[in-house]
Amino acid sequence: MERLNRCIIYFIISIAVLCQTTHAQNKPTNQRVDSILNLMTLEEKIGQLNQYNDDQIATGPVTIDNDKTNQVKQGQVGSLLNCMGAERTRSWQKIAMQSRLKIPLLFGQDVIHGYKTTFPIPLAESCSWDLTAMELSARISATEASAGGIHWTFAPMVDISRDPRWGRVMEGAGEDTYLGSKIAYARVMGFQGDHSGAINQLMACTKHYAAYGAAIGGRDYNSVDMSERQLLETYLPPFKATVDAKVATFMTSFNDLNGVPSTANKYLLRDILKGKWGFEGFVVSDWGAIGEMINHGNVKNEYEAAGSAMNAGCDMDMESRDYKNNLAQLVKDKKVTVALIDDAVRRILKKKFELGLFDDPYKFCNAEREQKEMDNPAHVAAARDVARKSIVLLKNQQHLLPLSKNTKTIAFIGPLVKAVMQNKGFWDVKVPGVDSAYVVSQWEGLKNKVGNSSTLLYAKGCDIEGDNREGFAEAVNVAKQADVVILSIGERRDMSGEAKSRSNIMIPGVQEDLLKALLATGKPVVVLINAGRPLVFNYTADNAPAILYTWWLGSEAGNAIADVLFGDYNPSAKLTMTFPLSAGQIPIYYNHFNTGRPALNDSDHLYKSAYLDLSIYPKYEFGYGLSYTTFGYSQLHLSKKTIKQDEQLEVTATVTNTGNYDGEEIVQLYLRDLVGSIVRPVLELKDFKKVVLKAGESTTVTFKIDKEKLSFFNQQLQWVAEPGEFDIMIGASSRDIRLKDRFELVE
Ligand code: BGC
Repeated sequence: MERLNRCIIYFIISIAVLCQTTHAQNKPTNQRVDSILNLMTLEEKIGQLNQYNDDQIATGPVTIDNDKTNQVKQGQVGSLLNCMGAERTRSWQKIAMQSRLKIPLLFGQDVIHGYKTTFPIPLAESCSWDLTAMELSARISATEASAGGIHWTFAPMVDISRDPRWGRVMEGAGEDTYLGSKIAYARVMGFQGDHSGAINQLMACTKHYAAYGAAIGGRDYNSVDMSERQLLETYLPPFKATVDAKVATFMTSFNDLNGVPSTANKYLLRDILKGKWGFEGFVVSDWGAIGEMINHGNVKNEYEAAGSAMNAGCDMDMESRDYKNNLAQLVKDKKVTVALIDDAVRRILKKKFELGLFDDPYKFCNAEREQKEMDNPAHVAAARDVARKSIVLLKNQQHLLPLSKNTKTIAFIGPLVKAVMQNKGFWDVKVPGVDSAYVVSQWEGLKNKVGNSSTLLYAKGCDIEGDNREGFAEAVNVAKQADVVILSIGERRDMSGEAKSRSNIMIPGVQEDLLKALLATGKPVVVLINAGRPLVFNYTADNAPAILYTWWLGSEAGNAIADVLFGDYNPSAKLTMTFPLSAGQIPIYYNHFNTGRPALNDSDHLYKSAYLDLSIYPKYEFGYGLSYTTFGYSQLHLSKKTIKQDEQLEVTATVTNTGNYDGEEIVQLYLRDLVGSIVRPVLELKDFKKVVLKAGESTTVTFKIDKEKLSFFNQQLQWVAEPGEFDIMIGASSRDIRLKDRFELVE
């Protein structure tokens, strides 16, 4: 009898599922979500809130679990991460289709700067200030990853950071809120496309919410303590920008913020994100972060951790299993309401519907499409383009660069010249079954460029780390035979990234000593610095005649570097993080307050805000970067000298390419609010334009300033523009201000 009843119930459910998947396809998504939700048991609902690591790769401390297949079959898992490839995702989806309600799995992956085609690390790309290029690189990454069965990327990372000791600066867009917000928006648009549910789109995930980049001492996972005003004004706007771009998901951060772990931070998740900002997507915890609240000392056990995170608004549990093991009991104990669980499930199911997975769970598992998208020459061309746009020219004495294509003998020296995978940087994707090792090394790039017209000599010289100088003699010998030396040095790619904080951010090992030995030959030396963060390299900066900061440039690194070295691309990138003179200056950022005792220069020490043993200036400032040409700024014009709160000010300036090469300039507009009820930074970026100018050509750039650009959070945390005077500055960097004027905001 009981068996018969079960059969009848199963039959009714099957009919209901069939109805919802076939006949109900035209219903609005919310109704379709509810029709599924109504069929779900509490256990199945909790299952949707559960994300497991597939064991292809691990990006965190793995939980051994040999029962995953069974749990997927039982509908106890909503999503897998680190599960890649059309075949692999199809086989998991097939298992999910054996579950009672046949709810498809979501496949998530860290597609941070490319899938098969690797683009420059995000910090490098940000130096291009080229929103279109960054949107395109995200678009291509989405195209490739979605063809590999992926639905969801854990990007963009939008954490503002002022501390280059923190290894995760490589994943972000640097220190500035305005630029960071623009880039965050562009990246979401790139990943998600036009939200049409098309086959080449990924859901994006804004992370890490929030203030993760302000970890004390730059030590990863460390606590953050900051004022609410700073949180709202400096750290949250890039997150908000992605909500404006309709980002599908958010990820919580590992840190505690003012004593409350972000994963259970009601203020961040319910009040701001889901409340004030009206975010309609879902929130996933970071890897194991729910359980880690026990280590934080914020909850006693997993049971409390799960209750705390769910009540705070974290919808999905990545890898900790605390939701799975505790939510049902929490509901029974009336510590968590079913309504809250329903809300979380609804948010997740809605995304599965929007992706079209209920209509076709295998929509993204197409091996033929996968093959085609992995071999797309347009992707390679885009990777080369954005890579060369990311290279920052830091120094170029006596126009050493660009090199002549008629240079007879070139010595290419250093531990990174022939490295292949190093060029990918941290967070590349090891795509199973496709040649994800495709990278043009720097050596190959140079060979491709010069062909037979120059003789190329090579010596490694030394390792990235260690104090072995045995290779110096050979390197010096090779250098002596050459007309010009190119030295490629820097960090190993796993020196910047997650859990890669460094207290000493100097170029490691004896690499700068190698430079010294090469300079002693009297040969001109061009230095390439490969890194995932701003490094300290004062010897190089002061002694090498030419320096290119190449970061980690991805698949097309070698070709992009060669393009810049020989002037086939004129460098245009500008730094998006301040480069300190010494780690002792950190945190260091351009938009600081003036203080009551500002030092006017480096000899102004007496009772001044300065160090006795360090300059007040960084080595390279935010916004800095050279070109092979030069640019002149003139004719600043303000449409008015006084504006009212509801008026706009139009600012124009002329920019002229005054050098001998065609080039691009990133024209930066800064403001300073001279008097504020809350003191205001000495300058703040409020707009920029990237202009392309032929040698000798001029153009007029126009900026519009409105109330929004003049506003800040006052003492009552209201967003206001206070009447008073503002300095307006236009320049080539935050220190290289070329034009200046003043206007007044009146009531
Ligand atoms: C990182 C996240 C990442 C996740 C999944 C965590 O350790 O903090 O940024 O998305 O792992 O790989």
